[in-house]
Amino acid sequence: MNITVIGTGYVGLVSGICYAELGNRVICVDKDPRKIDILNAGGIPIYEPGLKELAASNREAGMLTFTTDLQDAVRQSEIIILAVGTPPLPNGEANLSYINQAAIEIAEAMNGYKIIAVKSTVPVGTNERLASLISDYTKERFDSISLPEFLREGSAIQDTLNPDRIIIGASSKSAADVMTLLHIPLTEQIVVTDIRSAEMIKYASNAFLATKISFINEIANICEKVGADVTKVAEGMGYDRRIGPSFLKAGIGYGGSCFPKDTSALIQIAGHVDYEFKLLRSVVEVNQDQRFNVIRKLETIFHHELHGKTIAVWGLSFKPNTDDVRDSPAAEIIQHLVDNGVKVKAYDPIATENFRSIYDINGVDWCLSALEAAQSADALCLLTEWEEFSRVDLGTLQKVLSSPILIDGRNVFEEEDLLGTEFVYYSVGRPSLN
Ligand code: UGA
Repeated sequence: MNITVIGTGYVGLVSGICYAELGNRVICVDKDPRKIDILNAGGIPIYEPGLKELAASNREAGMLTFTTDLQDAVRQSEIIILAVGTPPLPNGEANLSYINQAAIEIAEAMNGYKIIAVKSTVPVGTNERLASLISDYTKERFDSISLPEFLREGSAIQDTLNPDRIIIGASSKSAADVMTLLHIPLTEQIVVTDIRSAEMIKYASNAFLATKISFINEIANICEKVGADVTKVAEGMGYDRRIGPSFLKAGIGYGGSCFPKDTSALIQIAGHVDYEFKLLRSVVEVNQDQRFNVIRKLETIFHHELHGKTIAVWGLSFKPNTDDVRDSPAAEIIQHLVDNGVKVKAYDPIATENFRSIYDINGVDWCLSALEAAQSADALCLLTEWEEFSRVDLGTLQKVLSSPILIDGRNVFEEEDLLGTEFVYYSVGRPSLN
């Protein structure tokens, strides 16, 4: 099939490259000439393991091209996939101006029947509104599809090529059949439904996963007080197939470009129909507070005298294997420390540059290695579970720290790892070790 994907962010780029990998002819379009130049030069404007190589092989095979020319791309394709950003507005609602603009441009370029599928996460009813917007600008026939995306950053290729399910919300049976044919090589678990339900499935899925995380984080906070171990509690719960083991890792809360944005948007969507989503409001509140779990521990350790201390921070991205720092809990933690007179020494394997370009936090010492950050620090806070951190020699780490205090916000280390060291070790929802 001939496919145009509009938007080369995470979702658009990964999907476009994977559709090409499946044997389709794909044109990826972006308004930003800088991104298209990088892609045409063989680079990738985002960090995603394996994506560069997959793009290169499909470009060589002539199945994948990158352009800023939306009109030309639309004319050559039967299927147009919209994957432009829908970032949150200050009130939490999704900003639909980019997707509206792209829809108008598609309409103006249309030269015959097209299937127009929306992969961007959009509030319920948006696909129908976009269809009517497109009809205002063209007399050509088209069908609308809601095609929500479930890939995770850092494992985006694996998630796209081996999805748990594909959701197709369709305005016609024939369009649903074409989209089913496109996705059947990926999975047989294809749910064909109406457009509004498909839009809702995306929000409900992300809200549910966020709920699992906030739930286990609250259980962790209680575990700390009653002397239980949340990793054991989660394991014990997870064997129940009705609960499942995933998304029960306690830590400093979820971040990234999806859960914070989509939970706020769903609260707004509910509000518009006079429904107060109380449970989800609490999920967001718990998540917001959970990042202070680390700060509270520091305050206890230093008897509320953080001023003048040097604290090392390991990890700036919202999770490992990505340079994405959007809504990363690390930002608020570091800002809080700096505001309280702490000298922060921070290190991340790849996200430091991104972090600095987004968050304007003065007075942080940006380090080039994990040990450099730890050098002479009064305590170390681990905020992102990069594999690199679990491989650090704890004997060496202990020697470079000014005092061997480790606050593990992601439960990376086990008791056995610390045997033979003098670490005072605090983690989330597990007994501390002295
Ligand atoms: C999330 C969803 O998992 C994807 O299915 C969805 O497609 C995507 O949002 C999206 O809407 O585009 P992503 O934000 O890339 O994907 O990252 P996740 O791996 O889901 O992690 C989100 C956050 O939750 C991270 O900060 C992570 O540290 C945290 N988390 C995750 C936990 O604290 N505990 C867990 O058990 C799992």
